[in-house]
Amino acid sequence: MLRQLTRSLRLTSRAFTHFNYGTDSTAGQIPVTQALVGWAEKLKAAGIEDTKFNLKCIISHVLNKKFNTVPDSFEKLQFNSSQLADFERFLEARCARMPLQHIIGEWDFMDITLKTAPTVFIPRPETEEFVRLVIENYKNEKHVNLLEVGCGSGAMSLAMLHSLPQVVSTAIERSKAATVLAAENAKLLNLQDRFTVHNHTMEEDKYMPEELKDKKYDLIISNPPYVKTEEFQYLHPEVVVYENLNALDGGSDGLRVARLVFELACRHLHPGGKLWLELGNEHPPMVKTIMNLKYEGRLKFIASYNDQYKRERFVQIEKV
Ligand SMILES: C[S@@+](CC[C@H](N)C(=O)[O-])C[C@H]1O[C@@H](n2cnc3c(N)ncnc32)[C@H](O)[C@@H]1O
Repeated sequence: MLRQLTRSLRLTSRAFTHFNYGTDSTAGQIPVTQALVGWAEKLKAAGIEDTKFNLKCIISHVLNKKFNTVPDSFEKLQFNSSQLADFERFLEARCARMPLQHIIGEWDFMDITLKTAPTVFIPRPETEEFVRLVIENYKNEKHVNLLEVGCGSGAMSLAMLHSLPQVVSTAIERSKAATVLAAENAKLLNLQDRFTVHNHTMEEDKYMPEELKDKKYDLIISNPPYVKTEEFQYLHPEVVVYENLNALDGGSDGLRVARLVFELACRHLHPGGKLWLELGNEHPPMVKTIMNLKYEGRLKFIASYNDQYKRERFVQIEKV
């Protein structure tokens, strides 16, 4: 019986074959360096480039430690049996190109940590730059009534609310899962008193939910879907397989949803109010042309801004 038990324990994982089943404090522990053997190669073979970063993220998560506190060498770190099982399960998922953010279930965005959920858009690092730019422009305002179109996990609004106590935010979002997640993130961050999210799909002639149809705002922000439909073939599996395409698909020129936001802004910004958009790098000149040709006397193109890679990505528009 004892022999059988010992045998089945040995079979639970290849990596446990050198286990010490004795009574000292390291019983049932395996060095992380040993558990790691072969995984960097498997990740590479699956097409994942930054294997070191991926492994460190997963190890930190399994050990419930902050990324920065884990040594790059992983020396002296140990997994117990359930941690080892998690580690292997998460790495298998990563080899199937599940995004790290979904494996870990949360992700840092600027100074806040957001819960993530399958099918809800994962906030990107460039969006942090975008939000910093908007915050810089509004830090001296007394009160800001903000509307966000397509809030996803709530990243942009919640980071603004976290930095600027004078902001109150309303968001609309077409995905039910994202609406629920954004509200949950607001609660986790204790920002729920200044954040409301409505499950609504902005459409032509139905830009806002009925209850907000007469509301006006000082500022509208949006990171609308802006990937051109033809570019989908070049996206990574993490995006195509695991993200909701409604969060990405901007139609043939990438501006299908942005055009709806322009109409919404005409109706729901106070005169002098601003619309800030994160878009693709081809879009700012196109937006400038659209403003001049179609919105003269209603919306005015103020400026565009580059991201850290010097790509023209962000635009500021004013309601006349
Ligand atoms: C690129 S994601 C951005 C999410 C979030 N703002 C961020 O930066 O992480 C676009 C979001 O807009 C939402 N969305 C797309 N079309 C929409 C529409 N017509 N009305 C409302 N939300 C929409 C998507 O569901 C998605 O959550």
